[in-house]
Amino acid sequence: MAGISLAERDAMARARELARRGPRGVNPQVGAVILSPDGRMLAEGWHRGAGTPHAEVDALSRLRPEDARGATAVVTLEPCNHTGRTGPCAVALLDAGIARVVYGAADPGDASSGGAGRLAAAGVATERADEAEAAALIADWTFMHRAGRPRVTVKWAQSLDGRAAAADGTSQWITGPDARAHVHRERSLHDAIAVGTGTVLADDPQLTARIDGRSDVPQPIPVVFGTREIPADAALRRHPKGLRTAGHDLERELFALAADGIQTLYVEGGPTLASAFIRAGLADRLTIYLAPTLLGGPRIALDDLGVDTIDEQRRLTVTRLEQLGRDLLVEATTESEQ
Ligand SMILES: NC(=O)c1ccc[n+]([C@@H]2O[C@H](COP(=O)([O-])OP(=O)(O)OC[C@H]3O[C@@H](n4cnc5c(N)ncnc54)[C@H](OP(=O)(O)O)[C@@H]3O)[C@@H](O)[C@H]2O)c1
Repeated sequence: MAGISLAERDAMARARELARRGPRGVNPQVGAVILSPDGRMLAEGWHRGAGTPHAEVDALSRLRPEDARGATAVVTLEPCNHTGRTGPCAVALLDAGIARVVYGAADPGDASSGGAGRLAAAGVATERADEAEAAALIADWTFMHRAGRPRVTVKWAQSLDGRAAAADGTSQWITGPDARAHVHRERSLHDAIAVGTGTVLADDPQLTARIDGRSDVPQPIPVVFGTREIPADAALRRHPKGLRTAGHDLERELFALAADGIQTLYVEGGPTLASAFIRAGLADRLTIYLAPTLLGGPRIALDDLGVDTIDEQRRLTVTRLEQLGRDLLVEATTESEQ
């Protein structure tokens, strides 16, 4: 974009780094840098979570008032235009005498958007830069904000004949070490993991993320769906993030997770819970590990999906196909993502 200087582009990259220091939660991660008119970095800030100052206000607070006048604010997200727990950032920037605002992603909120227009109407030069990177930074938050629920990935491992377990219910392990290592990385990339009580009772899973033998990686919050009692000595009770329980009403439970700032949910099964998410149209992405083995028998990977006739089949779009050791990984999106 012609109107953006090199210093502003560097400041935007720095602002994205700063944004990532903030927590994932009900508010988006946002970073800001204030530049002098000749492009020197004067102050930086980021948002530290709901109820704390927004990034641009945080950056302004680290600046002498006389330095803010005539300066440029570079922010990863359009300055907000509404009064929540804090006042509108557009007004804070105007009051500080900021002359120019460069922002990344447009604010998708109905109540909070319009900050750029308000600044422009007040005579502040406003420009948009690095939109794609800025949007990617808050993609999960934006999804949650729009849908009112976390983005849901449903994962399962199956034999080539479509079974998720042997006849006696044992399923550890259908896949090999490479596929299992991949699952641990996926866990670490999600805010929460869901399993049904059936899986807890059959497998006693830990649901922690371990990458290259290390457990000091981001750990998702485990959520057990169902009404049956979780045994007192279940491994999940020792999970570093504690244990959350949920009922059968998936939509309501997802809204509750979003209200607590959980942007992404990784559903690890078993077949009953995975099928319930897909049946309800609440699965956005699927990750399926196909193991070159045959199990036969009754333990199919998915049960009723509400498909009574071929016209109702759940069409998917394959987004990735990869061999992991001896197994195959198929990633796909459902209609909710297309
Ligand atoms: N291959 C794989 O990837 C994989 C992964 C996980 C598990 N497994 C295997 O799968 C087997 C367990 O599977 P499963 O199907 O019995 O257990 P599951 O899907 O883990 O749990 C089923 C339970 O989920 C609860 N639930 C909560 N909300 C629900 C809803 N909306 N609809 C339906 N159920 C809901 C119910 O619990 P309540 O009855 O308590 O109310 C239900 O009985 C084990 O053999 C395990 O080894 C395989």
